[in-house]
Amino acid sequence: MGRAMSNDADRQRRPARRVALITGGARGIGKGIALDLAARGWALAICYRTSARDADATIRAVTERGGQGLALCCDVSDPAACDDLVRQVETRWGRIDVLVNGAGPYHRVPLFDETPAGWNDMFANNLHPVFYLARAVAPGMKTRKHGRIITFGMANADKMEAQPMVTAHYIAKAGVLILTKTLAKLLAPDGITVNAIAPGFIDSGSAPPGELDGMTRHIPAGYIGGVSDVVSAVRYLLSDEARYVTGTTLHVSGGWGV
Ligand SMILES: NC(=O)c1ccc[n+]([C@@H]2O[C@H](COP(=O)([O-])OP(=O)(O)OC[C@H]3O[C@@H](n4cnc5c(N)ncnc54)[C@H](OP(=O)(O)O)[C@@H]3O)[C@@H](O)[C@H]2O)c1
Repeated sequence: MGRAMSNDADRQRRPARRVALITGGARGIGKGIALDLAARGWALAICYRTSARDADATIRAVTERGGQGLALCCDVSDPAACDDLVRQVETRWGRIDVLVNGAGPYHRVPLFDETPAGWNDMFANNLHPVFYLARAVAPGMKTRKHGRIITFGMANADKMEAQPMVTAHYIAKAGVLILTKTLAKLLAPDGITVNAIAPGFIDSGSAPPGELDGMTRHIPAGYIGGVSDVVSAVRYLLSDEARYVTGTTLHVSGGWGV
C-alpha cells in the first residue's frame, strides 16, 4: 500500500507545522476537514479503500489551498495495515498531531435480513479501526505530550435504543462512544484529548439519493446539515481553547436524535 501525490517532492518533505491523519478523507466529511486544515497550512495524510480518484482530487485541492498532502490506500479494518499507515505518515512528516477517524460506512437492512458478513463489516469498519489507530498513534503523541483524536458516533447512539434497521451500525457507534471515553481517560495525563462528533443527517454524499430528503421533517432545525457544520465542530475540538475538553460527544444534528 502507499501512494504519495506530489507535484514537488522536496516541498512535500519539508517539515510541516501540524500533521493530521484522516481516515476516509477522500470524500465527505473527512474531505471537508482535510480542506479546512489545508487552508491553515497543515500537512494532511488521507487514507481511502477504493476511492483512489477522489483521493487524488482531494490531495490536489489540499495543495492548492497551501497544505501538504499524502494519499494512502489502506483498509483500516486491517490492524496490520493501520500500523503501516501510521508508520508511513510518521516516516514522511515525523509525527501525527491529530487523528480523525472519518471512515464509518453504514447500511440500512432489517435485522433479520442482515448477514453475518454484513454484521461483522459494521464493527470491522466503524469500531475496530478506532482501537487499531489510537493504539498506533498514541506512543508518538505521548512522547510529544500533545495530541487530538476525533471519532464519529451518530446523534442518537448514546440513547441505547432499539434500532431494527441499522442495528449493527448503531451498536458499533455506541461502542465508539465508550471507546472514546476510555481513550480520553487513559490519554489525558499525556495532554491528548479524545472526543466524538455525533452527526445527525449531514449531506456528505454517503446516503443513498432521496434518503436525506425524507428525513428533513424529523429534524427539529428543519434542514439537513452540511459538511461545514461538522468541520466547524472539529475545528473547535482541535483548537487550543478545547485543551480541557475530552471524553465528550458533540452533537451536530440540528436537534435530531438528542
Ligand atoms: N453523513 C452523515 O449523515 C453521518 C451521520 C452519522 C454519522 N456519520 C459518520 O461520520 C463519519 C463521516 O461520514 P461520511 O458520510 O463523510 O463518510 P462515509 O461515507 O461514511 O465514509 C467516507 C469514506 O470512508 C472510507 N472507508 C470506509 N471504510 C473504510 C475502510 N475500511 N478503510 C479505509 N477507508 C474506508 C470510504 O472510502 P472508499 O470510498 O475508498 O471505500 C469513504 O469514502 C463516518 O464515521 C460516519 O459513520 C455520518
